[in-house]
Amino acid sequence: MSEPADRASTIVLISGGGTNLQSIIDASGRGEIALRIAAVISNKPAAKGLERARKANIPVECIENGNFPDRQSFDRALIEIIDQYSPDLLILAGFMRILTPEFVTHYDGRILNIHPSLLPAYTGLHTHQRAIDNKEKWHGCTVHFVTEQLDGGPPIIQGRVPILANDTAATLAARVLEVEHKIYPIAADLLASGRIQCKNGVSYLDDKRLEQPIGYPEGADAL
Ligand code: GRF
Repeated sequence: MSEPADRASTIVLISGGGTNLQSIIDASGRGEIALRIAAVISNKPAAKGLERARKANIPVECIENGNFPDRQSFDRALIEIIDQYSPDLLILAGFMRILTPEFVTHYDGRILNIHPSLLPAYTGLHTHQRAIDNKEKWHGCTVHFVTEQLDGGPPIIQGRVPILANDTAATLAARVLEVEHKIYPIAADLLASGRIQCKNGVSYLDDKRLEQPIGYPEGADAL
């Protein structure tokens, strides 16, 4: 395992509970992934994830979007904070903001997001309820590169869970979240170690075009 100094310097952006952040803190602490978290940034001062970061002795920053007149000025200020850390990667972990094209271009190919659906199905919000309402048999989560298209960047890894007869949005969300905590550290490690890349809007794994997302757990076993 590489020494911390060799690991990709990473900023994690959050807005809420930060359970995905926690899974990355834990995997990084165990030396399982090739990154170290340089700072955690929230747009909400009350985000529980900030506590998780402090507990792990990770620097935290908070920048409230409500204090800015528009999306552009907020994103510019956010870039200024982020760039003080000169990060290699950005991880969006429940960061509930739509990013401007300027922001996405600034960190082109270096931003990951996790979305609670089997993308391209169910972009946007309330994915669990919508999947139940549509009587889907399967639901899940996807880690993808962030591009200008909301929830539309090239996927990297996807975990599936069954939808059970008596599922509510809450029970289904909990089942999906368990898988999120498995696949996000895997995807972050692939990007941090340079194995996965985004070129012209397509994901490449070990220099080979990824025709479909890596499936979890089957495909991930083969990594
Ligand atoms: C997760 O469901 C993630 O997929 C979505 O926001 C939620 C964040 O949860 N983008 P947490 O803050 O990581 O607990």
